Amino acid sequence: MMKIPWAEPVFWGDEKKFLIDALRSTWISDGPYVHKLEKEFARRHGVKFCITTSNGTTALQLALLGLGIHAGDEVVVPAFGFIAPVNMIMAVGAKPVYADVDAETWCLDPALVVRGISARTRAMIAVHSYGNVCDMDLLRRIARRQGIFLIEDAAEAVFSRYQGKLAGTWGDVGCFSFQATKTIAMGEGGCVVASDKKLYDKMRMIRDHGMSAQRRYWHDGPGHNFRLTNMQAALGCAQLKHLRKIFAARNKVYATYRRYLTDEKGMKLQFFKADVDPVVWSVAVLLDPDIFITDRDGVMGALMKKGIETRPGFYTASQMPFYQSPSMPVAERIAAHVICLPSSPGLTHPEIRYVCDHLKNLRRKKL
Ligand SMILES: Cc1ncc(COP(=O)(O)O)c(C=O)c1O
Repeated sequence: MMKIPWAEPVFWGDEKKFLIDALRSTWISDGPYVHKLEKEFARRHGVKFCITTSNGTTALQLALLGLGIHAGDEVVVPAFGFIAPVNMIMAVGAKPVYADVDAETWCLDPALVVRGISARTRAMIAVHSYGNVCDMDLLRRIARRQGIFLIEDAAEAVFSRYQGKLAGTWGDVGCFSFQATKTIAMGEGGCVVASDKKLYDKMRMIRDHGMSAQRRYWHDGPGHNFRLTNMQAALGCAQLKHLRKIFAARNKVYATYRRYLTDEKGMKLQFFKADVDPVVWSVAVLLDPDIFITDRDGVMGALMKKGIETRPGFYTASQMPFYQSPSMPVAERIAAHVICLPSSPGLTHPEIRYVCDHLKNLRRKKL
């Protein structure tokens, strides 16, 4: 029996060397790799500024604080997606307003975003789930017309593109995660990108206790410690050197799944529009409960018995009482029936075939 984890980081060449170099240098908090990563990530994204953070969640919090979102404000957020943006909206005292998602792409439906905007709305967060990218052209136009900020959560879509332009570079601020399973995998870590100097200066200050860039221990305002370590940044710098290999590996995994699962009865892969060029973080499939012998969680359990680890779709805020969200039918259907298949960039063709064969075998015999 094969043993296939849902996600496993791959090291591409220079990670060990750079990490040992960081240790030898004794710079284990802030340090040269942090500065190099910020410079290189900004350059590759064609933006003026990048500020690294301790993770993707603090990147979102930093973006919200930098844009001055606070109690009494509303922020529109998709009903389907990882919960971090919702939690960070609440952490700054604002109110998340949920917009249901598109049934095919599982990303924000621009028409429903408009319905969620009120006089209190200050921003929207476009979450690019599983490597897909929202309709950024439309969302940016909506944000401009309504006079609200556009924040992108590209944690799952690092280096994905929409109309040739990288995810995270369409809005006022783009937020990224470099957590262990992500396209750039540093264990934990994240960053924000922006091109507005004033916003950059403010976010930089907030990341480091609100401390003045000119005078140590002089604080111009409240802040936090959202800093990344030099050791984590060393891993990131190593991986930025091997982007081509990383993209090729992730594309191959996704293409192999497509080969085995496209047009299979009872399964629908997440849909990427023609103007999206994704770097897929997690291959996600919507299962038809009438076609499978058991529900999604039963399918996950049966696959686990074959050594295949999977993840469910994200539960929606509307399903979790704490968040007090109204019902979001499309997101709830996705949450109930999506299964995320093993998606490590190091997966081999026989491993993917093994996953697909076992998944297909869980359908009713008479289709
Ligand atoms: C869409 C999304 N936003 C934010 C985050 C938070 O990132 P981190 O785990 O680095 O805090 C994640 C995490 O996986 C995510 O998937």
